[in-house]
Amino acid sequence: MTIKVGVMDSGVGGLTILKAITGAMPSAEILYFADQKYAPYGNLTAPEIAERLVRIGEYFLQQGCHAMVVACNTATVVSIHHLRSSIQIPVVGVEPAVKPACSYTRKKSVSVLSTPVTAASSRLNDLINAWRQDADVEILSSATLAFLIDHMPTSQVEVNLEVQRICAQVLDHRSDTLVLACTHYPLVRAYFEQYLGEAVSILEPSVGVAAQVVRVTSYNEANNLLVSQAENSGLMVQSNGNQAQLEALSHWLEELGLAAQVKSQVI
Ligand code: DGL
Repeated sequence: MTIKVGVMDSGVGGLTILKAITGAMPSAEILYFADQKYAPYGNLTAPEIAERLVRIGEYFLQQGCHAMVVACNTATVVSIHHLRSSIQIPVVGVEPAVKPACSYTRKKSVSVLSTPVTAASSRLNDLINAWRQDADVEILSSATLAFLIDHMPTSQVEVNLEVQRICAQVLDHRSDTLVLACTHYPLVRAYFEQYLGEAVSILEPSVGVAAQVVRVTSYNEANNLLVSQAENSGLMVQSNGNQAQLEALSHWLEELGLAAQVKSQVI
């Protein structure tokens, strides 16, 4: 049999998780859905995000998916519990790399960067309280960075300025570890590295999420049969966004070396 996984995000951010999943499960079928019509999720209310997740979960079920990945921190913190009680397949969310950051930091100083919704969530704050031990963990948020990344390359100058602003705060806090707690942010990791240099380690959770998807689907490379073995042949990418948003999705797919055409899908 062929394992099929549905991966969703409000936009292009989930592609960082998708990339890790395709690496860990090369012969699985993967359906990526970008809910761009409703992006950014940070502008929606919690019930609106919950409704979108259930709607997309039902769609993944209809498409024969064996598991659903919520490749978005904002959606995970707001409504993963509701989604899990609403659909019948395993649901994997994103957990910011707070635990490894707190055990890794030598200077006992960590910065966590997220969207304002994730920053204010009890889920992120509980996670930090559970793992911080003697580390000083500051939460930073950006109301614009995910949205700007969704519009690259047009928004490149604004992205650069926003990353520079954030990095000044990280350096001010004397952090030696930065946790990227929004799946969009690893797409511009090079910008962070440029301002932070080698003294600050940047952590993001895509490899851990992919490992969890392998576990919940009992994926086994030897037993997973995909008709064509061509690279990424099992990858389908869909979006309900407008033409410009579809083009941004294609841009990032190409940047990440993921060969798939973006199809328009109304959900
Ligand atoms: N990639 C999403 C996240 O991880 C972005 C959220 C949004 O659309 O506001 O939080």
